[in-house]
Amino acid sequence: MKILVVGKGGREHALVRALAESPAQPEMHCFPGSDAIFSLAHPVPVKTLHELVAWMKQNAIDLCVAGEESYLVKDEGLANLCEQAGIPCWGPHKQSAQLEASKEFSKAFLLRHGIPTAMATIVETRDEAMAAIAGTYPTVLKFDGLAAGKGVAVCPDESSAESFLQEVLVQQRFGPGRLLVEDCLTGPEVSIFAAIVDDDYMIFTPARDYKRALDGDAGPNTGGMGAVASRQLIDATLLETIKRTIVEPTVRGLREENLPYRGFLYFGLMLTPDGPKVIEYNCRFGDPECQAVMPLVKGDLAQFCLDGARGALRPELIDFSEGWSVAVILASAGYPEISRNGDEILGLEEVNSARVYHAGTKLHQDGTWVTHGGRVLAVVAQANTLEEAADMAHREAAKVQFPGSQRRSDIGILHF
Ligand code: AMP
Ligand code: GLY
Repeated sequence: MKILVVGKGGREHALVRALAESPAQPEMHCFPGSDAIFSLAHPVPVKTLHELVAWMKQNAIDLCVAGEESYLVKDEGLANLCEQAGIPCWGPHKQSAQLEASKEFSKAFLLRHGIPTAMATIVETRDEAMAAIAGTYPTVLKFDGLAAGKGVAVCPDESSAESFLQEVLVQQRFGPGRLLVEDCLTGPEVSIFAAIVDDDYMIFTPARDYKRALDGDAGPNTGGMGAVASRQLIDATLLETIKRTIVEPTVRGLREENLPYRGFLYFGLMLTPDGPKVIEYNCRFGDPECQAVMPLVKGDLAQFCLDGARGALRPELIDFSEGWSVAVILASAGYPEISRNGDEILGLEEVNSARVYHAGTKLHQDGTWVTHGGRVLAVVAQANTLEEAADMAHREAAKVQFPGSQRRSDIGILHF
């Protein structure tokens, strides 16, 4: 079996490894990949999405796995182009990936299908935004398009709302686009991942990520500073409610609206006093949740994704370990405002009780690894209890050092 994974981050490193460890020992390829991924998967020498799909066809790739979202909505869409070329793709069509790419589209979809979510108003100008906020704080402002995780602001007061509006609507930091003014929900967050194949779905191990830069959930939002994953994160009754009120109406809605979906769908939920509500959809696995979940997956993930991409959901092919998995991120100096590249990373070979996934690193000719991006590495450990898994992940992470390295010390403590 020949598999190609699209993406280059820590999530894709974890996916490539989990797929490579499948029983059939598939031959792995990647685009664009990273130096760390290249040790498991061959890089593909192309530049554009069209060239990539042509290359897959010529090289008889059996399965394309979309790690990262951007290619799903680029050009005609990765999955659409794969379909035209007759290559099974684990990842949704371009029109379905609007669930992530457009907040306006996903909000309208949620409301149309009666799926619990925060109420929102769409605005185009600063004045319309201020009128929609109507002096009620905190308020949530969301840019409509893809903004690399930086397009959402939870504003405690008018001055923070004013500065976000200035940046997004006046200076157009993410380009032209509209904005959602959304009610602010409260409660713990949880990330639910479903493998969706047309009318069918299967839920993977739930996870929680730590979005803020600093301990105690302080500081600016980041791509995610760590994650925990376990079946025990939510109880069976809550999981049933989430399936019945959120996952199943979503799967039905996709079918009713002829939005083809074969791939992972990520439900970002808030467990509010009124029940679970959808904060966002992402048309891919979470990062860094993927790094925490993949080590729990047992069985044949490669065959599961291949059969899913061909239209058959086969839950019997995989299973999930009990217990807990904790992923601790090591970020570079200055993250998230800036990221510093080129710092030498020491101690990687001393990590012996955890997995290390590379998010932003480069391999020098002399064999040393250096930082190359905001989030640099994820150190991931599993154990029967959350405390043991967290202790082990932190202990192993502490062996890895580079100048300016940042790590939250409370990853693994559940603030709810
Ligand atoms: P998103 O990029 O949509 O995941 O939003 C980033 C973060 O903003 C979420 O993880 C939440 O912590 C927060 N957030 C988004 N929408 C809301 C909301 N309606 N109420 C409260 N917090 C929110
Ligand atoms: N961990 C959040 C995300 O992947 O969007």
